Amino acid sequence: MSNEFTLSCVALFIMSPPLFAADQSGQRFDSTAFPQPPRSLDRHRLRADTPAVGHLVHLNNAGASLPPQQVTERVIAHLRLEEQIGGYEAAERVAEEWENGRKSLAQLIGGQSEGIAIMESSTAALHKVLSTVPLHSGDRILVAGAEYAGTVLPLLQLTRRMGVQLDFLPDGPDGTVDADELSRQLRTPTRMVFAVHAPSHNGLINDVIAIGAATRAAQHQPWYVVDACQSLGQLPIDVSQIDCDFLLASGRKYLRGPRGTGVLCVGPRALAELDAFPLDVRGGTWARARDVEIDPTAVRFENYERSVAAGLGLMAAADYAHQIGIGAIAGAVARNAEYLRSHLGGLADWRLLDRGKRRSGIVVVRSTATPPGEIVSSLRRERVNLHVVPATSNPRELGDQPALRISPHAFNNQADLDRALDLLANFSS
Ligand SMILES: Cc1ncc(COP(=O)(O)O)c(C=O)c1O
Repeated sequence: MSNEFTLSCVALFIMSPPLFAADQSGQRFDSTAFPQPPRSLDRHRLRADTPAVGHLVHLNNAGASLPPQQVTERVIAHLRLEEQIGGYEAAERVAEEWENGRKSLAQLIGGQSEGIAIMESSTAALHKVLSTVPLHSGDRILVAGAEYAGTVLPLLQLTRRMGVQLDFLPDGPDGTVDADELSRQLRTPTRMVFAVHAPSHNGLINDVIAIGAATRAAQHQPWYVVDACQSLGQLPIDVSQIDCDFLLASGRKYLRGPRGTGVLCVGPRALAELDAFPLDVRGGTWARARDVEIDPTAVRFENYERSVAAGLGLMAAADYAHQIGIGAIAGAVARNAEYLRSHLGGLADWRLLDRGKRRSGIVVVRSTATPPGEIVSSLRRERVNLHVVPATSNPRELGDQPALRISPHAFNNQADLDRALDLLANFSS
């Protein structure tokens, strides 16, 4: 264990007595729900690999994290290779590395590499899923209350375009999906169930394993789609336990990959029963004048044209997360977020919005005195990055008011958090 980590842990427990006490929402943080790191976090290495920490306090990892330099270097090296030998030729040269990278991503989520498609974003993956799953007028789709706007928007369009029925699951007492209530809801025939693992506008964590069990038990066999955008690279994910048909994730957030990358994990039932629509020449073959041959793996969901450099960067980010250890990352992110919550909870004029017994690295607060945009601009001038969550990211839960999001990663140390807290304290009366 590094000295820095030891010190920051000691300081954390001394300085933040309310860490495990009830917060302003009256809910207790369940520390036992977080996995203990199987090995200690090497924060010195994390910071050495993240050059910007020398001049920046980046607490917008739920927006886009700072990639480790190994990721950036991998992207640049491939762009240089393309410059030197040509794009198609460079792609051929890295074909083996690409397939190893697919395995690395699969291992990160407990899946098989045959089930992994490399996408341009999580939303690109969602759109492919929505155009693939056969939907008919009257089909019912259930979504978690904390769903992301980018998921809800096309579903709302489908209610208008083709008459599907979209229902929001009632929240359990802590704001997460109540699996028993879901089981009751699933007595009514349902075509698809969507659950966001860790939403971007609230620090709650949905129990996607319990949601999966309830969905699997449903008589009508709905397709189960999990949004792991904010959890990939932050929390342990095991698709074999979640038992979903599709898991979608972004590369640029907690995984720390380059922008313009995403992952789609396709489960065995979807691979057996669904094609992938529309197919591109990577995912299918035009054979014998009028035949379509479909790739047997999740590659059927991919497009031919993409940034190979960004894809290699995504894979380098997966390798990096393995090296640091996802359990160690999860523990450090959770501790950083609870440290912020415990201190913000004590400041006048601030209200914590996070719900859930288990909480992610996403801390969402509102100042009753100052609009979040003003706070973000002010801290940006001090080289501290926070983010405004617009009310439109989930108006059911945020109403018509934006909120302030602070999303630490494992590379953030206590000095980073204290710097942000000191600046935020200026907005208290
Ligand atoms: C919870 C959640 N789902 C989905 C998305 C969309 O991901 P992408 O921008 O990679 O399409 C985001 C992006 O912020 C998100 O936070």
